[in-house]
Amino acid sequence: MNNRHLLREISQLCEAQEQWRGETLNLIASENVLSPASRALLDNDFHHRYAEGHPGARYYEGTRYVDAIEERARDLIRGIFDADHVDVRLPSGTMANDAVFSALMPDGGTAVAHGIDGGGHISHARFGALGKRADRIAQWPRTEDGFHVDVAAAKDMLHKERPRVAILGRSLFLFPEPVADLRPVCEDLGIHIVYDASHVLGLIAGGQFQDPLAEGADVITASTHKTFFGPQRGIILSRGHDDAFWKSIDRAVFPGVTSNHHLFSLPSLCAAALEIRQFGRDYARDVVANARAFAAGLHRRGFPVAGATIGYTCSHQVAVDAEQWGGGRDVARRLCENGIVCNFNLLPGEPRKNARNPRGLRFGVQEMTRYGMAEGEMDAVAGLIHDCIVRGKAVAAQCRRLREAHPTVQYGFDLESLGRAEEHGSRSAGQTG
Ligand SMILES: Cc1ncc(COP(=O)(O)O)c(C=O)c1O
Repeated sequence: MNNRHLLREISQLCEAQEQWRGETLNLIASENVLSPASRALLDNDFHHRYAEGHPGARYYEGTRYVDAIEERARDLIRGIFDADHVDVRLPSGTMANDAVFSALMPDGGTAVAHGIDGGGHISHARFGALGKRADRIAQWPRTEDGFHVDVAAAKDMLHKERPRVAILGRSLFLFPEPVADLRPVCEDLGIHIVYDASHVLGLIAGGQFQDPLAEGADVITASTHKTFFGPQRGIILSRGHDDAFWKSIDRAVFPGVTSNHHLFSLPSLCAAALEIRQFGRDYARDVVANARAFAAGLHRRGFPVAGATIGYTCSHQVAVDAEQWGGGRDVARRLCENGIVCNFNLLPGEPRKNARNPRGLRFGVQEMTRYGMAEGEMDAVAGLIHDCIVRGKAVAAQCRRLREAHPTVQYGFDLESLGRAEEHGSRSAGQTG
């Protein structure tokens, strides 16, 4: 194939992705979709530009417009979370973690985090960002259900281990963390609490999940593209700390883990922050209601749903044990072939601990909620999963019909809000991405 053919192929693959995603029910818990306004604002000259440092104190000339946008992004995020300090320059949540761990553990030492089988993220693990900084990583003790920190045992462990950093927040994240319970002992022992809010940032913003800064977390790290439905970036927040504390984080971000910071997606982040300000409460409420309806629908149809005796979930996520139907990997593959996309996931306490073929499935309803699906549709999706996995039926056509009945992103601004509908007319059509 010559270069032109290859280029056409790449373009066609992008079109195929748009088309396919418009026909599937996406239940990957770490994803979301941008509004038309947020998406249109990704197409800008900042793709070509650099701006190291802070607005007004850059190492390049020519940054006056990005300075204004970055300041706006900082102010918006600061306001939403009532934070004192904000950094919006991280290209991802993993880099936010990398920066914070390096700032708070300059000489190594012990950290405590959730293990991968306790829902922790790879950046909290020995082989990820934390492993580069910590000499030792202890794991939070869990209660019997596997989804909560055992607070009494955790306090004992903190006394014994004396970690520098205590990391709360996870990738399999159903219930709030005991930040307020652990804060006094952490304060006594000089342990910094880092709360990784990547998954639940939008729910915190919408007042539907714990407020980690109010409960005593020193720092929040997060992605901006899961329940906080912005472009793919990362942020760091803190409240109640002096400038010296923040300075170490500031330096760890730049020049520690970044140089330029992908300026092109800052305008889109601003749009998402404005949408969160306007629609965030309704969105977060609807996401949690949908997650519970979806969990109840699965449970009623015989699926072993995590947390069944305690309300299933307080977040956008639902976890299911799929062992009796062949395990998480096999079931996730069959669902995907039928137009339902989710991921397989280790469940707490799995004996095999095989992350490539675990028992569990993790679902998230945040994207389908953003397309306007409500509790009735969640029950319908649970029914399709039952038909597919338990009854062995092909459900691709039903999934496609359900998805195509909800083509428009809700809880966001459209292109008319930008006053640029004409220029972006071709992309406004349908917005089925
Ligand atoms: C708890 C947690 N932290 C960090 C991340 C990494 O985020 P990013 O993909 O923005 O690097 C994830 C990703 O899903 C996550 O679940």
